Amino acid sequence: MGNKVSVGLLGLGVVGSGVIKIIESHQEKLMHQLGCEVQVKSVLVRNPEKQRDVNTDRTFLTTNPDDVLNDPEIDVIVEVMGGIDEARQHILNAFKAKKHVVTANKDLVALHGKELQNAASQNKCDFYYEASVAGGIPILRGITDGLSSDRIQQVMGIVNGTTNYILTKMDNEGMSYEDALKEAQELGFAEADPTADVGGLDAARKMAILGRLAFSTDVDLEDVEVSGIKNIALEDLQYGNQLGYTMKLIGNANFSNQQLEVEVQPTLLSKEHPLSDVKNEYNAVYVYGEAVGETMFYGPGAGSLPTATAIVSDVVALIKNMLLGVTGNQFVEPYFKKELKTPAERLGQYYVRLHANDEPGVFQAISSLFNQFGMSFKHILQTPLEKHGLAEIVLVTHQTSLENFHNILEELPKLDGVLEIKGHYKVEGDAEQ
Ligand code: HSE
Repeated sequence: MGNKVSVGLLGLGVVGSGVIKIIESHQEKLMHQLGCEVQVKSVLVRNPEKQRDVNTDRTFLTTNPDDVLNDPEIDVIVEVMGGIDEARQHILNAFKAKKHVVTANKDLVALHGKELQNAASQNKCDFYYEASVAGGIPILRGITDGLSSDRIQQVMGIVNGTTNYILTKMDNEGMSYEDALKEAQELGFAEADPTADVGGLDAARKMAILGRLAFSTDVDLEDVEVSGIKNIALEDLQYGNQLGYTMKLIGNANFSNQQLEVEVQPTLLSKEHPLSDVKNEYNAVYVYGEAVGETMFYGPGAGSLPTATAIVSDVVALIKNMLLGVTGNQFVEPYFKKELKTPAERLGQYYVRLHANDEPGVFQAISSLFNQFGMSFKHILQTPLEKHGLAEIVLVTHQTSLENFHNILEELPKLDGVLEIKGHYKVEGDAEQ
């Protein structure tokens, strides 16, 4: 590698431009840390003529992947082109050519991380993807280095900025979902097509990656139970507030008795929980370790320079490995065989809002049903509805199993006097958990 390490970039969009800016403007620090220069040597782009927000010598730009992947002077490939199939093929080709790879591509890592990691190890290459989860927050290294001595039991994250922005606006300003989404798009926080964000898939991909690294077990995307924020009613945010909860899209990964559960869903989070103060487009990941207890990592989950910071830190880490001759060791190797918890083993508190006839015996029937499944209430609210003779009932349970709660959702509408379940959510962060 001599006194210079050459980097090849695949893609030159918002994040790729940030990578060039950071490498150029942080040369002195890079030289101090590594004792060598780091240089971007060539960049794969679709259209070399396109105007970009970084000044790049056009001779660096190429439309031929071989110019980057098979250049013997290039040691490190940074993939920031996005997408799945083409990016996967380029990365596999890079490993065949014995080049180390850094990517920000969470979709790819969540779907093909295992295959890519194996290909990297077989070729004694490094494969790092710090930027794929929560942008500028160094959470993957926080888990795999900072907390490597502990047994992590829980990882809870607000790992999608778009949905956190929307929910903050709905909660603080009573804005409708549609207006909040429109504002997020106008401010550039939300994608033109926000389907993966509001549907929870973006957060699910990040939680699959976090679960793998935190618990040293294979977590596949299909192991993550996902629901998004599209159908949240303002009433549920308001009742939640009244009871001391705030609505957040929470990714929650738990590991106990070597059994795993990973879910992403709108959650009523206790205002006592540290994640409840994470507002607007910010991200945060709460990690509970058996020895360390509670920790939380907070910061920008997206954006050109924050994301590029994580990428260039990966480049620094792998150059240090190259200097020491220890490449080919990945963030973590799976250690535990994957075993998912059953609904009977998954514990939680639950919120349900329903409409019922406001007449004798109805609440008693509801209460008996919960009692039949061994569930008791933490909070009960009843309000008469404008329509005469009807009541809105809000219940929050103490801890119970998901199986019990599913049974309740199935049986409640069958009770005489119960008209409709209007909303139901998991509750997190109460002291009893
Ligand atoms: N679309 C993501 C978000 C950013 O809203 O957080 C990139 O992961």
